[in-house]
Amino acid sequence: MSFKKITAEEAACLIKDNDVVGFSGFTAAGCPKAVTKALAKRAEEEHAKGNPFKIGMYSGASTGDSIDGVLARAHAIKFRTPYQSNNDLRTELNKREAHYFDLHLSELQQYLRYGFLQKPDWAILEVCDIADDGKVYLTSAVGIAPTVARLADRIIIELNKYHPKELAGIHDIYEPADPPFRREIPVYKPSDRIGVPYVQIDPKKIVGIVETDLPNEVGAFTPLDKVTEQIGKNVADFLSHEMKLGRIPAGFLPVQSGVGNVANAVLGAMGANEDIPPFEVYTEVIQDSVIKLMKEGNVRFASGCSLTLSTPALEEIYHNLSEYKKKIMLRPQEISNSPEVARRLGIISINTALEADIFGNVNSTHVLGTRMMNGIGGSGDFCRNSYLSIFTAPSTAKGGKISAIVPMASHIDHSEHSVKILITEHGIADLRGKSPIQRAETIINNCVDPQYKDLLNQYLRLGQQGHTPHNMAAALAFHDTFIKTGDMRNVKWSDYV
Ligand code: COA
Repeated sequence: MSFKKITAEEAACLIKDNDVVGFSGFTAAGCPKAVTKALAKRAEEEHAKGNPFKIGMYSGASTGDSIDGVLARAHAIKFRTPYQSNNDLRTELNKREAHYFDLHLSELQQYLRYGFLQKPDWAILEVCDIADDGKVYLTSAVGIAPTVARLADRIIIELNKYHPKELAGIHDIYEPADPPFRREIPVYKPSDRIGVPYVQIDPKKIVGIVETDLPNEVGAFTPLDKVTEQIGKNVADFLSHEMKLGRIPAGFLPVQSGVGNVANAVLGAMGANEDIPPFEVYTEVIQDSVIKLMKEGNVRFASGCSLTLSTPALEEIYHNLSEYKKKIMLRPQEISNSPEVARRLGIISINTALEADIFGNVNSTHVLGTRMMNGIGGSGDFCRNSYLSIFTAPSTAKGGKISAIVPMASHIDHSEHSVKILITEHGIADLRGKSPIQRAETIINNCVDPQYKDLLNQYLRLGQQGHTPHNMAAALAFHDTFIKTGDMRNVKWSDYV
């Protein structure tokens, strides 16, 4: 290898206050882990001397604690996009100590190419192998790596030997041309390979190689409970019913499933449902449940942006890599989350809402309308463009003190025009072809927790006029009551109308 080996501390010393850095990885998978820790230490030292030190940050999606966590705790983040899920960074964003631009994940690479966002000074990439001509083989995710590697002035490589070199071949790297020269993305089925297995870097831009041997920082899932299990079962029942009606073809359609425990429960229930045939996955995050279904013969192929797997599941793949490489492909996020491809393939998208309103608008991001949870992630890429967009949510949060179904969503990420089906543990609301009042009745009858049914029916009878019968004085009364009393069930309509 002809590149200079450097330490993480030496690499961190090259990055200056106000520089903008783009990272490889998507979720905690495939992210650099060493240079950022050294950078956080450096920021703390500079702050102790009274000097400013903050950087701008682009990543695929969320990252591991070794990026978002350490840098947030060091107060070293100037701006951040497009997604995060770290508690310390969440606190920093909600205190407005760092600026956050919550963005559809499919858009980040083209935003960078179009010059809508500041050009990255640096790219830091985690790779499993590098060739002298600058070809690098990424590890367990792709994210925005090809684009930041091309746009950045200088590049630091973390060569992480935890990931086997034999991973080469699992990635399919493709960057579309920009308008007016863009052609269709030629993915016609999830397993179509359209690019090359490596990211080509100009070798002159590589300032050094930091050698590491570090596992990913993917957290374990909490075990399923009755609520998540029932939501999963309701989704599987709905899909098998759609098949019986002939609205999903006999060979099924590719599935996109969101992040978290509900998503895991949904996939588990789909695997257990005998009416659902083995299917393909076209998604952003390949979670443990996908691998389990693959082993059971229920998933035929999975295309995604990352292997966001627990350590045992990832190691199992690494021990049987030649077999899994036939069934898994990792793509950049502008391809895994492409609206064009989602629409063409007829994806069934299943994502989780924080809250939904009785008219079918979904809030995925803002707790009580103001506090950023994580971000929109890929939910909008898929929801708007899928064949069937399903949103799931437990009907209540915080022991029943919060209803996930409210009169008016306190923030809207996905509007009534995109949300087709809403599913809670209580049942299924099929919103297709329904007017606002019909949607409200369906959602209240089928999805709302019994403790909140009367309250929401009363809201509908508050005497409001119009096509979408809101009462503007009372529309956010659930939220206001929670803020004032700590429990939405205390709402009194007479206080508002
Ligand atoms: N109001 C206030 N808080 C709420 C709430 C509501 N309506 N609904 C849930 N919460 C709280 C929960 O109580 C929990 O808080 P806690 O951690 O203090 O216990 C927290 O929000 C997360 O809820 P949980 O049920 O564990 O959710 P999850 O892990 O399934 O995540 C989202 C749900 C919406 C936060 C998550 O799916 C997300 O970030 N989605 C947006 C991005 C996305 O959809 N990406 C997928 C595209 S592929």
